[in-house]
Amino acid sequence: MEYSNSKPRSLLILFATIFLIISSCRADPDPLQDFCVANLQATDITVDGFPCKPTSSVVSDDFFFSGLSAPGNTNNMFGSNITQANVANFPGLNTLGLSMNRVDLVPGGINPLHSHPRATELGFILQGEVLVGFVSTANAFYSKTVKAGESFVIPRGLVHFQFNVGTGNAVVITAFDSQLPGVVLAPFTLFGSTPAIPNDVLTKTFQVDQSVINLLKSKFGN
Ligand code: GLV
Ligand code: MN
Repeated sequence: MEYSNSKPRSLLILFATIFLIISSCRADPDPLQDFCVANLQATDITVDGFPCKPTSSVVSDDFFFSGLSAPGNTNNMFGSNITQANVANFPGLNTLGLSMNRVDLVPGGINPLHSHPRATELGFILQGEVLVGFVSTANAFYSKTVKAGESFVIPRGLVHFQFNVGTGNAVVITAFDSQLPGVVLAPFTLFGSTPAIPNDVLTKTFQVDQSVINLLKSKFGN
């Protein structure tokens, strides 16, 4: 059998392209060792992530976390609670490029419009019936009511929400391709920043008058 010369080269280009696509899709960088349990107390060193604890002081508990086992307190204006398991409270996640949340929603409760600047989100409905939606950069709204056992994905950085449309409590488990995905929570980012965004900016942006902005600032401001 004969192979033309161009085949291996085009295969090489294909593999190189696939590698480039895969590596550019990763959120956090790859670890350079088995683990680097975060030293959350280190204040004198600044790195992209957290410095590692000395291996001699690493213990089993650094790699286990029970914080997602219980429902969070949903007694708030949104009827929801997001319990986070990220590097800030689960130091074994440092450098491993992933984290997880538990979202509890009462009937009618919402995880309000927000985005994660550093991660794609993969969600699994553990219990209940939840309307999940996000908006693309082309302003297309994608949404679906998802039930227990079903999943969804929110591409990195896009604004999204979960809204409990069922009759009972809902529980959603979300996973992220970052040890610290970050959250930009729309109402608090826009109307509760410190210092506040000037009213003139907000009235012009949303084309409403001062009273609307003042109302929103009174709800979401400090
Ligand atoms: C859900 O959207 C979450 O951020 O956990
Ligand atoms: Mn989210």
